[in-house]
Amino acid sequence: MGNIKKMGVVGSGQMGSGIAQLAAVHGLDVWLLDTDPDALSRATKSISNSIHRLISKGHLTKASNNLSLYSFCCFPAVGAEALRRLRCTSNLEDLSAADVVIEAIVESEDVKKKLFNELDLITKRSAILASNTSSISITRIASATTRPSQVIGMHFMNPPPIMKLVEIVRGADTSDETFNVTKALAERFGKTVICSQDYSGFIVNRILMPMINEAFFALYTGVATKEDIDTGMKLGTNHPMGPLELADFIGLDICLSIMRVLHAGLGDGKYAPCPLLIQYVDAGRVGRKRGIGVYNYAKVTEPVKP
Ligand code: NAI
Repeated sequence: MGNIKKMGVVGSGQMGSGIAQLAAVHGLDVWLLDTDPDALSRATKSISNSIHRLISKGHLTKASNNLSLYSFCCFPAVGAEALRRLRCTSNLEDLSAADVVIEAIVESEDVKKKLFNELDLITKRSAILASNTSSISITRIASATTRPSQVIGMHFMNPPPIMKLVEIVRGADTSDETFNVTKALAERFGKTVICSQDYSGFIVNRILMPMINEAFFALYTGVATKEDIDTGMKLGTNHPMGPLELADFIGLDICLSIMRVLHAGLGDGKYAPCPLLIQYVDAGRVGRKRGIGVYNYAKVTEPVKP
């Protein structure tokens, strides 16, 4: 189980494309799968641009036996090698030889369970099946498979090639071996690992999402403008992004799904999603990825009124 050479990544959106990039840059053969061919072509373009950007800034180079980010000389062949190791597909069977599969599809328990059930049937028995879920129970996802000891949460932060943290989540039956192999893989990618038990939202989103939801309530109840809410949290608490900007960056649909998981899983009214967040998602204003969320990215100089 420990010798990870081939990886499957399911879902080629913001997170899946970044995870695939990270794995290819660190020497793994990667199959990136999406049901939407347009998402695959967007992912290929964004991975290629991102690798070239990292190379041109001198952040991506070959250091001894490892590929390492954040060193000082350029080695453009690294980018070409990484891109060669990355293949796209819409056919799940292509993932059958993977040593590990990381799922980064829509944040829905039913959809994830269906996928894990299919992955369980087509991947080799030794493969680890990991989920990048932000909040959904790993134990319940694992219940859709016949190998719950090999199912684990591997929660990357956005964007995966840059952010230094991976939150590893152990389901009720995750084995020590699965945990150790997953931790070693995250460390091979240059990440710092934290370990969470399997409770809704884990560590990071248990704390972050209620803050973002509260920022929506502050906007909804007219406490302040979106700009003042964001400036308040940036300059007042030294956060690099304000909570509303960050919500747009994450995706309001993802934020809403996570709040719903927290509300259902922890059973406390304080986690009820803000009506304004729900309304924005209903209106298709899901953030940067669609060009409009709390802010309008098509016309940055003229923000849309809430
Ligand atoms: P996204 O909406 O950018 O991408 C999801 C992709 O999955 C889409 O391209 C879609 O076509 C594809 N997809 C949906 N169902 C599929 C299926 N059954 N089979 C194959 N492909 C399928 O979403 P994003 O932001 O990349 O999030 C993905 C996962 O990562 C979610 O579970 C989310 O909670 C988690 N996550 C998101 C973060 C963020 O900041 N956006 C941060 C950390 C985790």
